[in-house]
Amino acid sequence: MKAWQVQELGEPQDVLRWVDVAEPVSGPGLLEVRVDAVALNFPDVLLCRGMYQERPPLPFTPGLEICGTVLDGPRAGERVIGGPGLPHGGLAERVVLAEASAFPVPDSMPPAKAAGLLITYQTGYVGLHRRAALQPGETLLVHAGAGGVGTAAIQLGRAAGARVIATAGGPEKVQVCKDLGADVVIDYNAEDFVAVVKDVTEGRGADVIYDSVGGDVFDKSRKCVAFEGRIVVVGFAGGRIAEAPTNHALVKNYSIVGLHWGLYRKMDPAVIPTTHAALVELWQAGLIDPLIGAELPLADAPQALTRLADRGTIGKVVLLP
Ligand SMILES: NC(=O)c1ccc[n+]([C@@H]2O[C@H](COP(=O)([O-])OP(=O)(O)OC[C@H]3O[C@@H](n4cnc5c(N)ncnc54)[C@H](OP(=O)(O)O)[C@@H]3O)[C@@H](O)[C@H]2O)c1
Repeated sequence: MKAWQVQELGEPQDVLRWVDVAEPVSGPGLLEVRVDAVALNFPDVLLCRGMYQERPPLPFTPGLEICGTVLDGPRAGERVIGGPGLPHGGLAERVVLAEASAFPVPDSMPPAKAAGLLITYQTGYVGLHRRAALQPGETLLVHAGAGGVGTAAIQLGRAAGARVIATAGGPEKVQVCKDLGADVVIDYNAEDFVAVVKDVTEGRGADVIYDSVGGDVFDKSRKCVAFEGRIVVVGFAGGRIAEAPTNHALVKNYSIVGLHWGLYRKMDPAVIPTTHAALVELWQAGLIDPLIGAELPLADAPQALTRLADRGTIGKVVLLP
């Protein structure tokens, strides 16, 4: 079968090769799955560069979340959502999934949306509820609100009854956040988000700040976090890992909360199916709906990942065979 393979590290458009690879090997506790849609994530870019926390041996196939159809065993024909394990990721014609982490797809959900229901929504749900204990009526600030992680967090924040402030880079992305129902949206390329957050919270600041950008955005977030607020460290799309002065957290009584959703697979795997069930309920209630900014052919993987790396995407980018 064919798959995109990284044979040396670098930028996606330079290092991804469409090659023949061995068929995935199924077995007890595993399912062979035809990939019907694969959703891209910023970590796919970091994997190509060798800058992700996980560094699979070369060569490897990126692609962390898919929707597909089971090809073998008693579940043959079932549509599932799952995360193929590296080095055999989802930018491929077929993958193997662990049976226990191949989750059913709601009947009404098309493959592109289903592929986008795993990583960003699981991360958002676990981050906002379990790690930050977001309460109804609290103010949630979501950075990069028009991105994959951000669009999911805006929807999940609203579903949790929070007042949502979002930041985004540029007018088109600002409109996306407004359309998703964010109460206040700030173009952080053009305006100082600290001043706006303080202004719209009567000086109090945001109770929960969901930060997937890091760097200067994290540094500024410390200036507009509320008393007993929680800054959730989600990622470093901006490229710089910020350092936090602990005396500042002490003086202002706030918490810096780390979030690594993938670690639940190892440390507390029961969280993942429970979260999937909660997400399906939210989808069925019309409270969440993955925003697919682009559906492209699998052949376009290198260009699509380059757009994601260059801030050129909205919501999720999904590749179809
Ligand atoms: N902690 C976890 O468990 C977990 C799970 C999934 C993802 N993540 C992390 O969450 C982050 C977002 O992932 P995603 O897949 O949803 O990506 P994404 O948000 O769709 O894309 C990244 C966004 O970050 C913003 N950004 C700001 N500065 C940037 C820069 N210098 N270069 C590129 N983008 C920049 C851009 O939005 P604007 O133009 O609006 O600024 C861009 O669209 C990544 O850091 C990823 O590693 C963490």
